[in-house]
Amino acid sequence: MSRFRPYIKYLLIVRGPLIGAIIAGLIYGIASGAGLPAMIRWVFPKIFSPEAAQLTNWGLLAIASWLPAIFLIRGVAGFANSYLIQFSGVRVLEAIRFDYFRKLQFLPLSFIQKQTSGDLISRGIADTNQLQYSLTTIANDGMKQPASLIGSVGFLIWAAFNEKGIALVLVSLALIPLCVLPIRYVGKKLLARAHQIQAQLGTVTDRFAENLSAAKEVRAFGLEKNQTDRFATESRALINFQMKAVKYAQALTPAIEIISAFGLSLTLVYAYRSGVKLDSFLAIITALYTSYEPIKKLGALNNETKRGISALDRLEHVLNEPLVITDPENPTEVGRLKGDVQFSEVTFAYKADQPVLHNISVTIPRGTVCALVGPSGAGKSTFANLVPRFYEVTGGVVSIDGIDIRKLRIADLRSNIAVVSQDPVLFNDTIYNNLLLGKESSTREQVIEAARNAHADEFISKLPAGYDTMVGERGALISGGQKQRIALARAFLRNAPILILDEATSALDSQSEQMIQDALQQLVVGKTVFIIAHRFSTIKDASMILVFDHGKIAASGTHPALYADNALYKSLYDRQHSSA
Ligand SMILES: Nc1ncnc2c1ncn2[C@@H]1O[C@H](COP(=O)(O)OP(=O)(O)O)[C@@H](O)[C@H]1O
Ligand SMILES: [Mg+2]
Repeated sequence: MSRFRPYIKYLLIVRGPLIGAIIAGLIYGIASGAGLPAMIRWVFPKIFSPEAAQLTNWGLLAIASWLPAIFLIRGVAGFANSYLIQFSGVRVLEAIRFDYFRKLQFLPLSFIQKQTSGDLISRGIADTNQLQYSLTTIANDGMKQPASLIGSVGFLIWAAFNEKGIALVLVSLALIPLCVLPIRYVGKKLLARAHQIQAQLGTVTDRFAENLSAAKEVRAFGLEKNQTDRFATESRALINFQMKAVKYAQALTPAIEIISAFGLSLTLVYAYRSGVKLDSFLAIITALYTSYEPIKKLGALNNETKRGISALDRLEHVLNEPLVITDPENPTEVGRLKGDVQFSEVTFAYKADQPVLHNISVTIPRGTVCALVGPSGAGKSTFANLVPRFYEVTGGVVSIDGIDIRKLRIADLRSNIAVVSQDPVLFNDTIYNNLLLGKESSTREQVIEAARNAHADEFISKLPAGYDTMVGERGALISGGQKQRIALARAFLRNAPILILDEATSALDSQSEQMIQDALQQLVVGKTVFIIAHRFSTIKDASMILVFDHGKIAASGTHPALYADNALYKSLYDRQHSSA
């Protein structure tokens, strides 16, 4: 139970409804447990007693309405209990899922990239569901079942003690502690199985996510059978894990019932030997039998707890992951930055001991258009991604305007940077709203102007719904080049002092790229721009070119100087021009 202590806060959100549910549950229990016996004991005799002849019609009606009255109370209380438990459950679920989703927004990219999206989705849907179910079951049954166990064992002790003293009490209770053994054993097995089931559920979810994102590849490479086979294997593995859990969970009730049967017959033998009277014996044996009922339910509750712990383990994998890229304690207050970017002895590794950038020192003054060139895998994107602090440097310092970027609030830093990547993602919304994400306070005129500069307005205004066209999931309903132009417009709208274009025009034809290049010349005056591009027509005019090779800056300068002095640059350039 202590495992759940940090999560009691979720139950506190619903403490009102939960207390209501428990009270309603108690009323329901009293009405069902005591209602009928009370009627047999006190109400019915009134009808069959000698005084019954004097009963008025009203009196008869009053007695007769006892039954519906009790069932009314029982019905309403039962309904209130179930409703309030469900209500508490969904509210708890909402809160846990919200916290999980929120956490995903702030985790470092490096963490997200290590996971599969299907598994992260499965944790957020299936595991939160499981945890919610476990928490509310524990809250509901965790009080009711121990209470009824104490009640029935208490009655048993009282009845047995009155009949034959302590010996009968001990005999009748002798086997109850044995029940702990199967409960613990099954609980342990179930915890392991629950882990397997939930992890496999993540794998199956991931099959869906990966397959749907590769719909075109599946058709292009004829992978339909390959994919369905793979899915079938993993789906079957899930069923096998689930059946193993079912086996253990279902074995628990018979195991306890067998123990209870031995307990009953032991009591029977002892009662015969010590001469217990039939009516007391029946009362004792009934109380003993009813004592095993809450034990069975507690066993099931233990299983539910294990399933909850397993779900919690998986959620905590995300919830407890440290946010390594965080705001500093005493951030330096900045408004709009000027855009002097400096790398001082920067080293970076995605995986420990495998550095991707080695000891890079370079200064890019404000107003520079800085092109990054080099073979793929040389570290250009990695270098650019360190500026908005998407990843944390392993060694050295990245600074802007002389301030270590780790001294800035992340929101302040990133609001000064606009990033366009090679494969930009649009949200499933209208073109207009996607553009507006660049800067939400923009006017309609500013949005359209940014679209013009990115040569996006031309195609947008030709669409039947214009700026109100829905772009589909991740922008699937428009072409790659159109998507890139929208992403560029979105970045232009941001009007940030630092602009990072990572192969941002790769999907455009050379004519459109040239037009955007021209627009860029005017837009970027006074701004610091990082351009990673393949076409040298884009690179040539840059005021500074950094040549990357194997995670190092092999050379820097302007096009004429590099072409004359640097063999790598010359070969990259010549290769493109001879093929063109
Ligand atoms: N998210 C990542 N996790 C691990 N390694 C990565 C990741 N991204 C890139 N790399 C590796 O880092 C190196 C540099 O990659 P990158 O900066 O993308 O190169 P470029 O942009 O110059 O093509 C490559 O060896 C690549 O395999
Ligand atoms: Mg790259």
